[in-house]
Amino acid sequence: MNAPDQAPPDAPAPAPTSPSASTIATATMPATVSTPEGVSPQLFVDWLRTVAPYIHAFRGKTFVIGFGGELVKAGMLNALVTDVALLQAMGMNLVLVHGSRPQVEEQLALRNVQSQFHEGMRITDNAALECAKEASGELRLDIEAAFSQGLPNTPMAGAHVSVVSGNFVTARPVGIVDGVDLQQTGLVRKIDADSIRHSLSNNKIVLVSPLGFSPTGQAFNLAMEDVATSVATALKADKLIFISELSGITDASGAVMQDLSLRTAAERLQDPNIKPEMAFYLEYMIRASKAGVPRAHLIPFALDGSILLELFLHDGVGTMVSDTDLESLREATLDDIGGILQLIEPLEQDGTLVPRSRHLLERDIDNFSVIEHDGVIFGCAALYPYPREGLGEMACLSVSPEAQGSGDGDRILKRIERRARAAGLERLFVLTTRTEHWFLKRGFVHATVDDLPQDKRKLYNWQRRSMVLMKKL
Ligand SMILES: CC(C)(COP(=O)(O)OP(=O)(O)OC[C@H]1O[C@@H](n2cnc3c(N)ncnc32)[C@H](O)[C@@H]1OP(=O)(O)O)[C@@H](O)C(=O)NCCC(=O)NCCS
Repeated sequence: MNAPDQAPPDAPAPAPTSPSASTIATATMPATVSTPEGVSPQLFVDWLRTVAPYIHAFRGKTFVIGFGGELVKAGMLNALVTDVALLQAMGMNLVLVHGSRPQVEEQLALRNVQSQFHEGMRITDNAALECAKEASGELRLDIEAAFSQGLPNTPMAGAHVSVVSGNFVTARPVGIVDGVDLQQTGLVRKIDADSIRHSLSNNKIVLVSPLGFSPTGQAFNLAMEDVATSVATALKADKLIFISELSGITDASGAVMQDLSLRTAAERLQDPNIKPEMAFYLEYMIRASKAGVPRAHLIPFALDGSILLELFLHDGVGTMVSDTDLESLREATLDDIGGILQLIEPLEQDGTLVPRSRHLLERDIDNFSVIEHDGVIFGCAALYPYPREGLGEMACLSVSPEAQGSGDGDRILKRIERRARAAGLERLFVLTTRTEHWFLKRGFVHATVDDLPQDKRKLYNWQRRSMVLMKKL
């Protein structure tokens, strides 16, 4: 049985699982390898590997990205397009919904027409509707043009992105509010999800404008946030991501709240002091979440690459609202094997854990508990019971480096202890060399090889000389 112990510095390295693994472990990186300035080749490789679990988890998933015309006005369109093209190349299905408020304002100003609002909503008269159509048409062309670039030595080289837009949105008038007719300001009535899905399945990026049409062919001016939320809901998208002028949803002290449960989000919305523009986004995020979109994000466009940082960093950079407990601690299933392997492989390679094969993992998967965050496995441990002696071994405890230090190790240990107690075991032991103090701090005490269950004693590796630590349950 593989124990979670590690090789002492002078012990021979664990047997490599394949010739290539041994080559990786011993070869040094050639000095000629060229990486981005200031990044060592090893750091570059390590970084790419940390991103891999997310790429696996997000492949084939559908993300709806809503961004205001403010992003384009701020000159951030090319950066966004580059990141979106990269996400698409990684296998994600992407729908973009653009807004056009500042561009409509510009058009109105050009025509010397005064904007009219009621309760924050534009009153779209004929002149404003013409401006909205013109602004949307121009923005659509700009976005399509940005996706069409492919100069060598730019991030878009070789991208070959195909963008599709169309009449996906059926709208209805908002109508008369407090006696004020909002005219051609509309709300989404229906989304043609089948057509969007069809385009996505043909590897297209779908671009939706904030305009919709009634069954009689009348055009309506819509809010980007309404369109994006409706598209995400209709598609049963995995994520709705708003890229806005805000840094995220902040608390009363101004600090960005990273993860919000639906309940906490609703509480935040009740705060009478919440800024109106924040409440505006939060309402749509809550609406999406309630309608079954598992994750709704709000991130800033002012931060270059914010969508990559939000998706590929454990803590992200903005706010995420979700209707479930984000970080779930649960028993493992066969579907988790890939994620567990990703997590423990580096620890096996540096000798912290003894290598275990996929076959062994498949056999023992019921012994494992895992911590999952947004579809990615961040921690695991296994319990091997020895009922005759009333003992249990905790093996393979690991927490991903980027999530360490936030209590996940503790939570997994508690889970394993609970499982052990439920199985009627009286004591839990671990074999370790480098993590002694972590366990001592958590109630384990030194024990000897003689204290191990008989079957385990026979397998004890005297060359590795792992410490035996035991805890009364
Ligand atoms: C040991 C491990 C599971 C802890 O996970 P974690 O989520 O960081 O743990 P927690 O957040 O609950 O605890 C963090 C604390 O443990 C300490 N700690 C982490 N690794 C430690 C080690 N090897 N020895 C002693 N203390 C350690 C941290 O310094 C931190 O201390 P602090 O709370 O005083 O700041 C994680 O570091 C890991 O996966 N390590 C590599 C694999 C390994 O060694 N597994 C055990 C094999 S027997």
